[in-house]
Amino acid sequence: MDRLTLSALAHTDHPISAPLGDGTVADLLDRAIPRPDAHLLDLGCGEGAWLLRALQAHDAATAVGVDISDAGFDRTHAEALRCGVADRLELVRHDVTTYRPTRRADVVLSVGAAYAFGALLPTLAAAREHLAADGVLVLGDCFWEREPSPEVRAEVEAGPQGFTDLASTVASVVADGWTPVHGHVSTLAEWDEYEWSWTGSLARWALDHPDHPDHRQALEASAAHRSAWLGGHRGVLGFVVLVLRPTPPGVGG
Ligand SMILES: C[S@@+](CC[C@H](N)C(=O)[O-])C[C@H]1O[C@@H](n2cnc3c(N)ncnc32)[C@H](O)[C@@H]1O
Repeated sequence: MDRLTLSALAHTDHPISAPLGDGTVADLLDRAIPRPDAHLLDLGCGEGAWLLRALQAHDAATAVGVDISDAGFDRTHAEALRCGVADRLELVRHDVTTYRPTRRADVVLSVGAAYAFGALLPTLAAAREHLAADGVLVLGDCFWEREPSPEVRAEVEAGPQGFTDLASTVASVVADGWTPVHGHVSTLAEWDEYEWSWTGSLARWALDHPDHPDHRQALEASAAHRSAWLGGHRGVLGFVVLVLRPTPPGVGG
């Protein structure tokens, strides 16, 4: 089973690929979307769950989601059709680092996807390039709630991205020319809901498909993820979503 299929199964009951409850997502979208006919661009949209929710709540909004994988696009397209928002939603399979939209967006989202650009600062640069002058950026990323053990840090920072504490994370965003107008730090309950859903969906699928050739791999992936979460990540790794507006020139953050 490839990583994308595994991730799609793990997100069966939690289509938002981040430790955020449904109420939090709705609140963040309400705060970010400036008017009913806003245009949204999601860089690293996953299956497009944020956009689907935004279009359901804002009946003249339009949205483009971009992801390097189209796993889950079919599910979202079907749901968009069912909800009557399909004509306002476009999902594009493309690398965000080379994607060039045809218009600027009123709201740009990058939630859990800054690693696509390698780090926060290039993500902010891309968002700025795609955002209307009075636009809003919804930026979600990890930070360290507490100093991790060297093993946990090495594991979590094995990719291109390193993390700092919350104050340093926000300070680097502000120093880059953004003003937070709202923020949400995932609660432990949101993390637990996300991680139990991730590992549980995968385990349930494996147990329901004992004869599938990927049965054992799925069970092992679920167990490894659960052990990592309970054995060092829980309460140490944090997640913050910032609602940001560009700081006017000449104004300190
Ligand atoms: C943690 S998921 C977050 C998905 C979504 N933003 C959400 O909150 O539900 C990160 C997403 O970034 C996508 N991604 C990673 N690198 C990418 C790239 N270079 N171009 C486009 N998408 C990328 C992955 O395929 C994945 O769907």
